[in-house]
Amino acid sequence: MIIGIDIGGTTTKIVGLGPNKEKICATVKASDPVASAAGAIGKFLSVAGKKMGDISLIAVTGVGSAAIADEVLGIKAIHVEEFSAVGLGGLELSGAERALVVSVGTGTAIVHAEGRQARHLGGSGIGGGTILGLGKALAGITDFDTLALAASRGDERGVDLTIGDISPKAVGTLPRDATASNFGKMADRPSAEDFSAGIVNMVFQTVGMLAIFASRAEHDETIVVVGNTMKIPSAREVLKRLYPIYGIQFIVPELAQYATALGAALYLSE
Ligand SMILES: Nc1ncnc2c1ncn2[C@@H]1O[C@H](COP(=O)(O)OP(=O)(O)OP(=O)(O)O)[C@@H](O)[C@H]1O
Ligand SMILES: [Mg+2]
Repeated sequence: MIIGIDIGGTTTKIVGLGPNKEKICATVKASDPVASAAGAIGKFLSVAGKKMGDISLIAVTGVGSAAIADEVLGIKAIHVEEFSAVGLGGLELSGAERALVVSVGTGTAIVHAEGRQARHLGGSGIGGGTILGLGKALAGITDFDTLALAASRGDERGVDLTIGDISPKAVGTLPRDATASNFGKMADRPSAEDFSAGIVNMVFQTVGMLAIFASRAEHDETIVVVGNTMKIPSAREVLKRLYPIYGIQFIVPELAQYATALGAALYLSE
C-alpha cells in the first residue's frame, strides 16, 4: 500500500490508498515534523487495522517534509512537490479534469491543475492561521471547534460595513447586503460570536475573490477549495454567497482536508 503524508504548518495528514483506490485517512497535530510523520503512521495503522509491512512506499509533501530523509521508520519515502500534490488531490476529489485548486491551510496557495501538471499561481498569508490568530486576539477563543461554532452563531454585520450602510441602493452589481468594508463598522463592542463571524467572512471573501480573479486569468471554469480550514461550516457559506454576484460556484469536496496527502500518494501510484 502507498501512503501519502502531508506535513503542514499546523497539522499532519495521512492517506492510504487501498488496492481499489479506497482511501483511509487520519490527522495528527504537527509538532516536530519527523515525530508527527511517525505519529501519523502509527495512527494510520491503528485506524486502518494494518501492519508496518503493509506499507510499501511513503509519499511525503508539505512544508515540514523538508525535514524528512529518504525513509520513515525504515520505509522508503519519496518527496512530492506540494503544489503537484495539491493539484492532483483537488482534481481527484472533485472529479474535474482541469481546475483552479485553492488550498486553504495555515496560509493559502492557488494552483492551476490539469492532469498531473500543476502550476503555482500565487497565494496569500490570509488563511486558516489568520482565523485562529484573530479569533484569539479579538474573540478570546483559542479552541478551533469553539471558534467555528461561534462563527456560525455570530453575524458579521455586527462588525462589517455593508453597501446598504452607505448607499440607499445597490452599487453596480453589488447588492445592498454586500460587504463594503470588513471590520469597517466597529462602533460598539461586538460579541465574540460577531467577531468570529467577521473574521471567517473576511478571510473567505478575500480567498474567494483571489480565486475568482485567478480563475478568470487562467480561464478555469471550476474552482476546487481544499484544506483543513474548510472544516469551518460558515466558510462554505461565505463562498456560496459570492455566487449571485460573480456567477462562480466553489466545489468543496468531502475529504477536503486530505487533498494534498491524497495527491502525493496518487502522484507516486500513477
Ligand atoms: N482541530 C484543529 N486544530 C487546529 N486547527 C484546525 C483544526 N481543524 C481545522 N483547523 C484549521 O485548519 C487550519 C490548518 O489547515 P491545514 O491543516 O490544511 O494546514 P497545513 O497543511 O498545516 O498548513 P499549510 O498548508 O499552510 O502549510 C488551521 O489554521 C485551522 O484554521
Ligand atoms: Mg497544507
